[in-house]
Amino acid sequence: MKVIHLAKTPSILNKYLAQIRDKEIQKDSMRFRRNIERIGEFTAQEVSKTFKYKPVKVETPLGVKEVLLPDEKLVIASVLRAGLPLHYGLLNIFDDAENAFISAYRKHTSETDFDIVVEYLAVPPLDGKTLLLVDPMLATGRSIRAVYEVLLRHGTPGTVHVISVIAAPEGIAYLERHLPPDTYLWVADIDEGLNDKAYIVPGLGDAGDLAFGMKL
Ligand code: URA
Repeated sequence: MKVIHLAKTPSILNKYLAQIRDKEIQKDSMRFRRNIERIGEFTAQEVSKTFKYKPVKVETPLGVKEVLLPDEKLVIASVLRAGLPLHYGLLNIFDDAENAFISAYRKHTSETDFDIVVEYLAVPPLDGKTLLLVDPMLATGRSIRAVYEVLLRHGTPGTVHVISVIAAPEGIAYLERHLPPDTYLWVADIDEGLNDKAYIVPGLGDAGDLAFGMKL
C-alpha cells in the first residue's frame, strides 16, 4: 500500500486539522463539517496528481488551446454517516464523479469487541473505474475492509484510493495486510494509536456525532 501522510509537509491543511481536533472549536458543528469538507477538497487536489490525463482541444473566443484533462472514471464511495462531509469535499473538486453510499456500523459483542455490520448499499458498476473509498477516521481498518469486500460484488475497480482524515497506525497496518498492494492510502494525519474502545488517540472524538449530533 502507498501511504501518503499529507500533514508531513506543513500546509494550510494543518489549520483545518487543528480546528477539527480542538475540543472548543469542534462544538460548532457547521465549522466541523466545513473543515472536514475543506480537508476533502485539499486531498482531492493531491489525489488528482496521480490520475491519467489526455490532451483535449478547447476553443476560446480567440483561438484553440490544448489542455490535459483527467482521463479517469471516478466513483466516490462513502461510509455513512461520518463520511458525508468528506464525500462532499471530494465531490466539490471531482464534480462529475459517480457516487456510492454504504452503511457500516460497529455492533458490540462485548464492552471492547465488535463486529462490523454492512447493511445499506447504493453503488454504481465499478469495473475498471477509479474508486475513492472514504472514511474520515481509520481506526481498526475493519470497516474499510468490510466495505471494500462488499463493493467488489459490484465490479473490480482499476485503482483504489482510501481517503481518511485521521488514522491510527494499527488501522494502517491492518489495511496493509488486507487491501491490494497497489492501493493508495491518503491520510491527512497519523496519530498515536487506539484506546480500549478502538477510538483514535488523541484523534478528535466521534466524527459522526460531531458532524451530525449524538445517536442512541
Ligand atoms: N470513529 C470515530 O469517529 N472516531 C474514532 O476515533 C474512531 C472511529
